[in-house]
Amino acid sequence: MGRCYLLFGILVLAGFLPSSSLTTTRRFQFIVEWKNVTRLCHTKALLTVNGEYPGPNIAVQEGDSVEIKVTNSVARNTTIHWHGIRQLRTGWADGPAYVTQCPIRGGQSYTYKFSVINQRGTLLWHAHLSWQRASVHGAFIIYPRMPYPFSPPLFEAQIPIIFGEWWNADIDAVENEMMMYGGGPNSSDAYTINGLPGPLYPCSNKDTFIQTVEHGKTYLLRLINAALNDELFFAVANHTLTVVEIDAVYTKPFITTAVMIAPGQTTNVLLNTNHQYSSHAPTFAMAARPYLTSVFPFDNSTTIGFFKYKHNTTMSTKKTTTATTITMPHNLPRMEDTAFATQFADKLRSLASAQYPCNVPKMVDKRVIIAISLNLQDCTANQTCKGYNGKRFYASMNNQSFIRPPMSLLEGYYRNLTTGPYSTGFPEKPPRTFDYTGVDPLTENMNAEFGTKLLAVPYGTKLEIVFQDTSFLNVENHPIHVHGHNFFIVGRGFGNFDSAKHLGQYNLVDPPERNTVAVPIGGWAVIRFKADNPGVWFIHCHLEEHTSWGLATGLIVYNGPDPSQWLLPPPQDLPEC
Ligand SMILES: *[C@@H]1O[C@H](CO)[C@@H](O)[C@H](O)[C@H]1NC(C)=O
Ligand SMILES: *[C@@H]1O[C@H](CO)[C@@H](O)[C@H](O)[C@H]1NC(C)=O
Ligand SMILES: *[C@@H]1O[C@H](CO)[C@@H](O)[C@H](O)[C@H]1NC(C)=O
Ligand SMILES: *[C@@H]1O[C@H](CO)[C@@H](O)[C@H](O)[C@H]1NC(C)=O
Ligand SMILES: *[C@@H]1O[C@H](CO)[C@@H](O)[C@H](O)[C@H]1NC(C)=O
Ligand SMILES: *[C@@H]1O[C@H](CO)[C@@H](O)[C@H](O)[C@H]1NC(C)=O
Ligand SMILES: *[C@@H]1O[C@H](CO)[C@@H](O)[C@H](O)[C@H]1NC(C)=O
Ligand SMILES: *[C@@H]1O[C@H](CO)[C@@H](O)[C@H](O)[C@H]1NC(C)=O
Ligand SMILES: *[C@@H]1O[C@H](CO)[C@@H](O)[C@H](O)[C@H]1NC(C)=O
Repeated sequence: MGRCYLLFGILVLAGFLPSSSLTTTRRFQFIVEWKNVTRLCHTKALLTVNGEYPGPNIAVQEGDSVEIKVTNSVARNTTIHWHGIRQLRTGWADGPAYVTQCPIRGGQSYTYKFSVINQRGTLLWHAHLSWQRASVHGAFIIYPRMPYPFSPPLFEAQIPIIFGEWWNADIDAVENEMMMYGGGPNSSDAYTINGLPGPLYPCSNKDTFIQTVEHGKTYLLRLINAALNDELFFAVANHTLTVVEIDAVYTKPFITTAVMIAPGQTTNVLLNTNHQYSSHAPTFAMAARPYLTSVFPFDNSTTIGFFKYKHNTTMSTKKTTTATTITMPHNLPRMEDTAFATQFADKLRSLASAQYPCNVPKMVDKRVIIAISLNLQDCTANQTCKGYNGKRFYASMNNQSFIRPPMSLLEGYYRNLTTGPYSTGFPEKPPRTFDYTGVDPLTENMNAEFGTKLLAVPYGTKLEIVFQDTSFLNVENHPIHVHGHNFFIVGRGFGNFDSAKHLGQYNLVDPPERNTVAVPIGGWAVIRFKADNPGVWFIHCHLEEHTSWGLATGLIVYNGPDPSQWLLPPPQDLPEC
């Protein structure tokens, strides 16, 4: 069941779209609707866009204006987030429900309008309400105006490889059960590549992604992790990959045997189909499985697809025989391979060229330290609690477990509501200093505080945020996503962050620039960015179960002095609560 993703025909061969000084407006129609989909012999109604699973790929050119009319035709609320798009002054089009907009109700439409400025590469779009992202997601491809700065700059085709998770059960039921009982969610039943689980699952052979390739060519693979709750490793049997871009920012190219990709992250890699063969056209497995850092039950399965070399007609006219035996990529890291994840992250560097400079703030105006915790809350008399020790799971940043407000934060902010849906005064450091990663979790009070406290900074603040994992419940790798801004990952390490020791070790020359940072298990990551996008921006763990438990906060960036630094007024069709 191979699907060909060759978009834009010949232009793709050229590698980029022809430059045009005029801004083009590209319009798309998204209809949110139910579609019956069968995988693993389970048929269920999936929430989809335009009946597709995964959803349609969007392709635009750098500099374009984009208008996407989303019509909700189902009897429930939805929103769509354009993950990683900067949304300069257009926070109204960002998408997270109750953060920048109220939901689009059944029967309503909302047109997301924004420009794609100074970004190029692969991003993703996905639903940003409840766990709808499970099936409502797709690639967001930005063609560059200039030729690709890596070699070869031309490739045969570009292939989105979107990782997802499939539940045999209804995803709302999984989420509701988790929230009702305070326990961990049921694990997914399969991982998927472009919606297809592959042959290692029961009743799934025919649902396998197969990509035909020609010998001796270069392909651009656009890797996207749209899974809900799992970081993944990815590898192709008998082939290496060259990483050239992450989160729509070019990197210094490097060759790797595998990729680590966290939910919300994207990675462009080049695949050279240079495998030597003489008689039979070979088939190579591509595989993804989790990078596990959790003590909780999780989906530990492996999804597989194939690259199938075209038969080389000059050698023989005999047809290749049927199904090859599956040789798992021996280069796919083991699930607990933190050493690989660390080495891979260490190799990621911004291109930092004259044309694509790395504008990392060398000095900062403010440093904020955010401790990331899982929490356990006591059960009240009238509840059934299925979390650890008969309690309920929550999660927090600096002990603040985020409560989703009943209205849009951005609207409350814009309208100057004094009795608004939030307060500022998010703690700028952990309320208590302790051995964050060394403490015995069971001796600790693991309660959190609940509220909607945001961090607020003036326009242009050069901000440093240290994300510090804690050993509350257990240490874990957390992919933290910041809306409305890219940031530079200037430092990472294990144990506790210590400014006296670690400040001098920052990479301020060519740190990787992204929108989602995988904070090391039992460690810390430091990001820097200039808060130059006025509005209210969600900051959260991109593991959906953790967002549900409150591992989130928001960042208010006030308007600057110049009108060009002001949040634009809300569009007429902005949904109301
Ligand atoms: C899905 O299948 C069920 C049972 O066959 C049917 O009632 C329903 O109308 C179908 N839904 C869609 C969207 O096709
Ligand atoms: C979750 O898994 C348990 C145990 O297998 C099962 O009893 C329950 O029905 C599942 N919940 C959902 C929502 O599928
Ligand atoms: C691919 O690599 C594996 C493991 O190194 C090796 O056993 C196998 O023969 C290789 N396959 C081909 C077609 O070269
Ligand atoms: C996955 O987890 C199940 C249940 O805990 C276990 O039986 C199985 O051996 C695990 N599989 C792998 C590949 O680790
Ligand atoms: C056939 O295979 C040989 C050796 O792998 C290669 O050099 C040649 O270019 C191939 N021809 C075609 C038409 O792909
Ligand atoms: C459960 O009990 C708490 C107090 O212990 C109370 O505030 C809450 O309203 C009760 N909830 C329900 C659904 O009865
Ligand atoms: C909010 O307050 C600012 C500063 O006082 C003012 O300029 C702006 O017009 C107010 N906005 C609204 C929507 O009332
Ligand atoms: C978090 O807040 C709760 C409730 O106020 C408190 O009991 C707990 O000690 C705090 N924990 C930390 C680590 O600050
Ligand atoms: C949709 O969102 C609105 C606004 O928050 C809310 O009042 C309504 O109950 C929601 N509808 C559904 C079906 O969840």
